[in-house]
Amino acid sequence: MKIAMLGYGKMGKKIEELAQADGHEFMLKIDHHNRHTLTPENLRQADVAIEFTEPASAVENIRLCLTNGVPVVSGTTGWLAEYSKISELCKKENGAFFYASNYSIGVHLFRNINRQLATLMDGQPDYQPMLTEIHHTQKLDAPSGTAITLAEDLLDKISEKDKWVNEKSNDPSTLSIRSERIDQVPGTHRIDWSSAVDTIRLEHIAHSREGFAKGALAAATWLPGKKGVFGMKDMLGF
Ligand SMILES: NC(=O)c1ccc[n+]([C@@H]2O[C@H](COP(=O)([O-])OP(=O)(O)OC[C@H]3O[C@@H](n4cnc5c(N)ncnc54)[C@H](O)[C@@H]3O)[C@@H](O)[C@H]2O)c1
Repeated sequence: MKIAMLGYGKMGKKIEELAQADGHEFMLKIDHHNRHTLTPENLRQADVAIEFTEPASAVENIRLCLTNGVPVVSGTTGWLAEYSKISELCKKENGAFFYASNYSIGVHLFRNINRQLATLMDGQPDYQPMLTEIHHTQKLDAPSGTAITLAEDLLDKISEKDKWVNEKSNDPSTLSIRSERIDQVPGTHRIDWSSAVDTIRLEHIAHSREGFAKGALAAATWLPGKKGVFGMKDMLGF
């Protein structure tokens, strides 16, 4: 498969390592320095594009892929206010778009457990949830895209809460998300359900970026030939 990699940073390089081991060709590697080589002609040579850049660039990159008929897998976080516009564009262009705020299969399982636990805890008013995410110091967005996804799942299941804030809050209708930035941490997410007498803790710790890269590459091999907007649930079936 010919892959155009939009964003050749930490994730782009890890995906390249795995893609080459699987015999795929990285025919375009775009970063800040060679962005002028991302022309429609070059892009159209690719079977699929994988986009891991930064919040300010993602929408324009995804648009370029969709308007040139190239299936696109994006993992960039921090741009989701534009998600519905991108979905509409994908439908209009009869294109293929895959998005996950986290490509790790472990996080997808964790997300499912979070939903199930929240359903159970909704009937336990003595317990309050608190979400914590910890990432490396170069991360541009806070809270993390994964934390937002986990928070939205919690809001969906807990009848008392209707919004999240990225700070500590004692308002019972608000879910608190705490963001910590510590050098070298690939990604940790934790949900604490605390009462006056105990805490139930659910935690996912990524040991490296490999889990994210594997999932993104799996999505890039799954997507070509399909039409529509997809996510991890579509690919994994749960
Ligand atoms: N969905 C997931 O599973 C997952 C996992 C890890 C990281 N991320 C997200 O992916 C993104 C990238 O993460 P990273 O750790 O590789 O970051 P990074 O800073 O190491 O790399 C970003 C790359 O994008 C390039 N870039 C920036 N603007 C560009 C543009 N307009 N066109 C082309 N290239 C451009 C930069 O030059 C750099 O090479 C972030 O938003 C991060 O939060 C998502």
